[in-house]
Amino acid sequence: MSEKVIIFDTTLRDGEQCPGASMNTREKLEVARQLARLKVDVIEAGFPIASDGDFEAVQAIATEIKGPSIAGLARCVDKDIDRAADAVKPAGERGRIHVFLATSAIHREFKLKMAQDEIIRRAVEGVKRARARCTDIEFSPEDASRTEPEFLAQVTEAVIAAGARTVNIPDTVGYAAPHQFGALIKYLYEHVSNIKDAVISVHCHNDLGLAVANSLAAVLNGARQVECTINGLGERAGNTSLEETVMALKTRADAFGGFTTGIDTRQIYPASRLVSHLTGMVVQRNKAIVGDNAFAHESGIHQHGMIQNRATYEIMSAEDVGRTSELTWGKHMGHHAVRKKLEEMGYKLNDDEIRRVTEQVKTLADKKKHVYDDDVRALVEGAFTEVPQIWKLDYLSVMTGTIPTASVRLIQADKKEPTADASTGDGPIDATLKTIDRITGIKGSLNDFNVASVTSGEDAIGEVSVRVQFGERIVTGKGNSTDIIEASALAYLNALNRHLDEQRRRNETEKPTL
Ligand code: KIV
Ligand code: ZN
Repeated sequence: MSEKVIIFDTTLRDGEQCPGASMNTREKLEVARQLARLKVDVIEAGFPIASDGDFEAVQAIATEIKGPSIAGLARCVDKDIDRAADAVKPAGERGRIHVFLATSAIHREFKLKMAQDEIIRRAVEGVKRARARCTDIEFSPEDASRTEPEFLAQVTEAVIAAGARTVNIPDTVGYAAPHQFGALIKYLYEHVSNIKDAVISVHCHNDLGLAVANSLAAVLNGARQVECTINGLGERAGNTSLEETVMALKTRADAFGGFTTGIDTRQIYPASRLVSHLTGMVVQRNKAIVGDNAFAHESGIHQHGMIQNRATYEIMSAEDVGRTSELTWGKHMGHHAVRKKLEEMGYKLNDDEIRRVTEQVKTLADKKKHVYDDDVRALVEGAFTEVPQIWKLDYLSVMTGTIPTASVRLIQADKKEPTADASTGDGPIDATLKTIDRITGIKGSLNDFNVASVTSGEDAIGEVSVRVQFGERIVTGKGNSTDIIEASALAYLNALNRHLDEQRRRNETEKPTL
């Protein structure tokens, strides 16, 4: 039997630390359900001490999600560990506390102001405290790749002796090079006497674009857990991408030691889409595995080869990563059929949402010749985003020409009468957004604007993603429509509503910095 590499997904913790990618509890639960369908082994659901919202999300995931282990992050500080223990408790035996403390000289001297022996003492105390509350403990020596190897080996040995089942070696700042990182893992195997009592894990950041390569080099040298995120989401340049790591291990088993993972690869693309939609982080077109172009063949020579034999230019199949576009939707579908199809696509919606999607499918089928799975995915993901509709679009009409003018009518929650106004702008979209600002009395500035067509064809649904700055905060929003101006208005309102909702719920607790 081939050996298994444990897939530890940290989209909901490190991924969510990516600026502008924050999700509310319901959105995190949606992602966690998809991660369970994907069959990851561990879901790092959050950093419970960071805020009441983070605690609530980890606890909700630990309560509902069956299958994967559920981890909560904690610094080596009593109150963090206790909070993480409380949050993962509903997962029972599948609960994990992930304790971390920096070990590199630069962090010891400037951040922690602690000597080596103090670091070992704190790490051991932290692991023991966590171990008293939970059996599955992971320890991470933060900035391990820049830590003196001898000291790293001492820390690893001490935390394993204290009860850590997993020791995770982070390349926190994305500094490692594959051959050196692989050699570091090998060094630990040669110098830590009790290493067989724990799983060695790796957690790489992508500052030099080497996160996946470093993780694979570590696997070749003994690591048996890889920490990764969907779409490589994460701090700065992101984390190791789950889809690239899993597909590299699968497609090049001959080159990467023949290891298996428990991942259901057909759930990769739905997971990528869901995370992109909920975080507003658009996936670059040429991103490996999940980018729009990853399986597109443009040149005539390639197309000809593909027709003769797909293997001429394709090393994996699109179907294997869940990229199918079946033409099975139509306006005569009832909501039972819609429910069944959605379940096949991996979505679990309540009755109201199914009814909403059914109506939207019918409306879309009137506008579009063909309705594909991807069209419906866009609609469903829209329904998932439980951002309260504080401001809702009621009517939009735009006149283009020399002076573009937009007339907009919005309905504010709890108010019976809609509010209407009109304004000119530099273009039709600018005029629309300016009018929205006038009606709501809230000025946002557009930092980023992206349009993607969800499916191919002239009548495709356009998906607009925006990043909008309201004061100090940057929030993302998405909107779908066959009309780009309407999609822009919906995306802008989605960002505004998210901002107002966050403002309302914002917890006084400041997030501790890692
Ligand atoms: O990058 C890092 O070092 C981390 C740790 C908390 C594991 O995210
Ligand atoms: Zn990290």
